[in-house]
Amino acid sequence: MVLRLAAAGHHVSGVEKSPGMLEAAAKRVAAVPEIAERVTLSEGDIYTLPFDDAAFDAVVCHGVVMYLADSVAPVAHLARLVADGGILSVLTKNRLAVGVREALSGDYASARAQIESGQAASVGNLGITTRGDTPDDLDDLARANGLTPLPWQGVRIFHDHRTDWKPTEEEYQAALETEWAASSRSPYRELGRLVHVMARREATA
Ligand SMILES: C[S@@+](CC[C@H](N)C(=O)[O-])C[C@H]1O[C@@H](n2cnc3c(N)ncnc32)[C@H](O)[C@@H]1O
Repeated sequence: MVLRLAAAGHHVSGVEKSPGMLEAAAKRVAAVPEIAERVTLSEGDIYTLPFDDAAFDAVVCHGVVMYLADSVAPVAHLARLVADGGILSVLTKNRLAVGVREALSGDYASARAQIESGQAASVGNLGITTRGDTPDDLDDLARANGLTPLPWQGVRIFHDHRTDWKPTEEEYQAALETEWAASSRSPYRELGRLVHVMARREATA
């Protein structure tokens, strides 16, 4: 996201807790000199972000809160950074779809146990147990921090379990377009492996 946002012309501050991941990110940024001047990367923790309140027009946290014990404190720490008129974008595991990947890939014992228990956590694609949130819970957290939720999207609805899929470029584009069409529509979006919520801090006059 740092690379994409900087390539779109934005000034981007990236924070990462792991020195190894930070170094990997720094190498990728350095490989694109035309964007490097717009990017600042720093080591830090989501619970102690070293920025003033309302410092950013957009705060983006993708693929992180699923590794943390809960989303309450992380969303509060992220939301305080959002400027008036700015947005918060959080992508994380979708609790509504826990068990779907397991069922589609034939691991019925895990799928059934997860579906019957309605549990929040399951093993993610890195082999680590990750925790899901529902879009409603995330929208409530945004409201609790003074933000107004925008429509949420489901992500990786039809292709999450297809780990050995090798599409042609044409098939890949068609798959992306299909995922995009479904991402904002129920009942498809509820089945996304991931949920993307956005919320805005209303501009004050
Ligand atoms: C799956 S990666 C996602 C990275 C990036 N956001 C992306 O979408 O490519 C999750 C990252 O969260 C980082 N992380 C985990 N706990 C964190 C914390 N408390 N504060 C900041 N970063 C954290 C990990 O080190 C890891 O690099």
